[in-house]
Formats: sequence, C-alpha cells, structure tokens
Amino acid sequence: MERVGRFRFKCKKDSVQHLYQITDVHLLSMACAQNKFEEYLYQIKNDPVAIVIGTGDYIEGISYNDIRFSPSEMPVKVRVCDLADYGKYSFDLLYDMLKPIASKILALGFGNHEYVLLDKTKSPHLWKDFIAKIGCKDLQYTGMLDLIFQNGVRDHIFRVAAHHGAGWAQKPGGVAIRLEDFMSGIDSDIFLMGHLHKQMYQKLEVVGCDPSMTKIISTHRLGVVGGSFLRTYTEGVSTYAEKRGYRPTPLGNPCITIQPETRQLGVQW
Ligand SMILES: [Fe+2]
Repeated sequence: MERVGRFRFKCKKDSVQHLYQITDVHLLSMACAQNKFEEYLYQIKNDPVAIVIGTGDYIEGISYNDIRFSPSEMPVKVRVCDLADYGKYSFDLLYDMLKPIASKILALGFGNHEYVLLDKTKSPHLWKDFIAKIGCKDLQYTGMLDLIFQNGVRDHIFRVAAHHGAGWAQKPGGVAIRLEDFMSGIDSDIFLMGHLHKQMYQKLEVVGCDPSMTKIISTHRLGVVGGSFLRTYTEGVSTYAEKRGYRPTPLGNPCITIQPETRQLGVQW
C-alpha cells in the first residue's frame, strides 16, 4: 500500500471538479476498443478541471512466454520482432497515448496484467521508468491520496483510495459485494477500483457531527468500479472472455464529479 500524498488545487466558488479514472484499457489486445479510449483521452485533454488517477491493466501485457498467449488475439500491427522486448514495446505505446494528458495525471497504479508482464519479461524497471516519464506518483497496487480544493480561506479535503481490484464477479450483486467489501475496509471519501470490467458505483451515507460538534451532518462516500475498454465479443477472434461465456460489458471509464463546498459526489460514464 502506498501513501501517495496530497494534491492542492485552486478552485472557484460553487465549481465542479472532474476526477477521471483510467482502468482496464487492455491496449494490444485485438478486443481493445482503442478508438473509444482515444475519445476518452481527448475528453480529458480538453477538460480544464480534469485530474486523473489510474488503477491498472492499461495494457494486455501477454507475451509469448505467458501461458495465456494466443497469436490470434494479437493486433495485426504487432510484429514478431516486437515480441523480443515486449515489455518495452507495450510501455512505449502506453506512454505515447498518455503523454498528451500527462500533466493532469496525479498517480497511476498497476494491475495484474502489468504485474505479470513485468515479471515474465524480468523487467520491473520498466514500470518505474514509465512513471518517471509521465511525471506522476506511483500508486502501485493500492494507494491513498488527498485532493485538497481551495477557494478563499477554506480547504475542502477528499481522501481517495484506489486499488486495482481483485476477485471475480459476473452478476451485479457480486460486483456490489466486492465493492462494498473494499469500501468498508479502507477509510476514504472516494474509493476507486477496476479489474471486474463492470461499470458500477455505490454511495454509502455516513451520519456524524461537524468538527466543532455544533450540528449533526450527513455525508456520503462514493465507491466506483471503473469499467473497461475491452470488448467481450469481437468479430474475427475468440477471446478469453468469449470462451468463458462472459456477458458483454459496456465500454468506457468514468468521470467522477466533485462539488467541494457541498461535498456532493457523482459519477458518469
Ligand atoms: Fe482488466
């Protein structure tokens, strides 16, 4: 677990801030909807109040020495010689895609796909090099950070926890239980996870007192399962997910809306 740090932002009164979660893109899979991911990056690039946190599985990361490797699931543009240094090839592509929004990225974590690729290619330095090139903080698999929005003299602090995600769930109830397990075990205002390739959020109402104990207040915590850009079914290839009969999932990653003064949180895909 990483204690990532605090990030301060000046904001106008009654403004709405946008936190984007990049997760489970699975670049370099035949089933990746790369054009939709590029549209999402374009939206971030043109959003003046955008900040970004990533929760892993940006790349498919399945090299020739991985038991899951299937040549038919590789994009046509990948040449045989690219497999000689597939870790570098994958992270170079990811860097090229994220570079235009690098200044908006606060922290990136990795998922099981990056973890296995770094392990299989015996090149753990690629992750540290990539993070240094982007110029963001390293969230590893789990991290916590504070977003501090300042307008005038007041600081509005939101604690964010992010984990790549774990486990398996196909039904909405299973996804909800997984999300609630994380939300109840990690103290944060906003909890982000990926991995399950589903789009879901939950709000947990929390009743308490204001800091000076002058009134009872009700706030809420927001938990988000961020979705994916990986298609379950793709013409011309039988993917891992298709063979296991997974349900088709909607494509896309979320934009979390934060209203600093009212502490209202929302999410849209
Ligand atoms: Fe994933």
